[in-house]
Amino acid sequence: MVDYNEAFRAAVEAVRAEGRYRVFADIERIRGKFPTALYHGGATPREITVWCSNDYLGMGQHPAVVGAMQEAADRVGAGAGGTRNIAGTTHYHVRLERALADLHGKEAALLFTSGYVSNEATLSTISRILPDCVILSDELNHASMIEGIRAGRSIKRIWRHNDMAHLEEMLAELPIERPKVIAFESVYSMDGDIAPLKEICDLAERYNAFTYLDEVHAVGLYGKRGGGVAERENLSHRIDIIEGTLGKAFGVMGGYITANASIIDAVRSYASGFIFTTALSPVLVAGALASVETLKESNHLREQHQERAAHLKALLAEAGLPVMESVSHIVPIKVGDPVQCKRVTDYLLDEHGIYVQPINYPTVPKGTERLRLTPTPLHGDDLMGRLIEALDDAWNVLKLRRAA
Ligand SMILES: Cc1ncc(COP(=O)(O)O)c(C=O)c1O
Repeated sequence: MVDYNEAFRAAVEAVRAEGRYRVFADIERIRGKFPTALYHGGATPREITVWCSNDYLGMGQHPAVVGAMQEAADRVGAGAGGTRNIAGTTHYHVRLERALADLHGKEAALLFTSGYVSNEATLSTISRILPDCVILSDELNHASMIEGIRAGRSIKRIWRHNDMAHLEEMLAELPIERPKVIAFESVYSMDGDIAPLKEICDLAERYNAFTYLDEVHAVGLYGKRGGGVAERENLSHRIDIIEGTLGKAFGVMGGYITANASIIDAVRSYASGFIFTTALSPVLVAGALASVETLKESNHLREQHQERAAHLKALLAEAGLPVMESVSHIVPIKVGDPVQCKRVTDYLLDEHGIYVQPINYPTVPKGTERLRLTPTPLHGDDLMGRLIEALDDAWNVLKLRRAA
């Protein structure tokens, strides 16, 4: 007899034994007080400071975004009422797709229910459409891209992270007329490094390859209007598909791709993950639209965001804490052990009311377990001062390794 329960229990036990069993923090954000939230993990709820949110600019609380969502709910109600084919294409969806195409300087855009689904659905679809296609994938690409590539049944080649010589070697081995897709990200979210976009575009042109760029951790944050690193580097027109999320810097939920009209029409017509699922709620779409438009109009929050990240990195280095090198808004601190990583985050939460999620394998390689801090424009100097004191205390009490 199969003991089904035992099989599941043993699987969880294996994760626990490696020290990487995940515990969710039960929190309740407080509108208008971000990054403060209520923590429900103890006997009574208490206020904590969130240091690990991907609501990078606090747009999830922005009055224009919340207001647009309230107004949409009042006007049209809660849900879309169907898939995009069957009654689910609301005027909000049409307007947001236009706004996203404009954001990236592309002809068209297509919404999905998340960034994960956009990657999975699009990569699997384009590799089925392009005959005999080879996908060249950066080794640190996100799980959603990896799953999309796997589902597409193309041949996959993995190039060493951001290594242009390795990518070129792989491209050069393939016949020029064979379809090839280079799939990569701009900001890699765990290390905070940025891909050499121009060099990748140059290689793609030289070897006749198609480019697919995930800008999930860059849209809203980089470029004059928030069009991502490709906009900042004036390269959007050289990238075939740009993919993004509405759930991080834009503060709401959903994902999208932008490209020329024929690519979007093909994905719209073939992608199972687009066709056979209920459309995003118009309430979410209205909020995302307000967020995209707000961030297009002003660079102010983006500038504050970069200043806050640079300031925090400097404070951490000054305090001798092992801040890892990062050229973006992401601020990782190395712990290097899963058990210690969990211990330090528990200590910060219990003793100092500071919430940072431990980042362990398989999200990052074993031995590089870390805290991943995401300062926003709303993390002021006082909060930063308290964070540094708390980290200093945790590093002393738990006897963790400091910077060399
Ligand atoms: C690089 C990358 N791509 C895609 C996603 C998925 O986006 P979403 O959260 O909107 O599903 C994530 C993380 O969530 C990510 O880190």
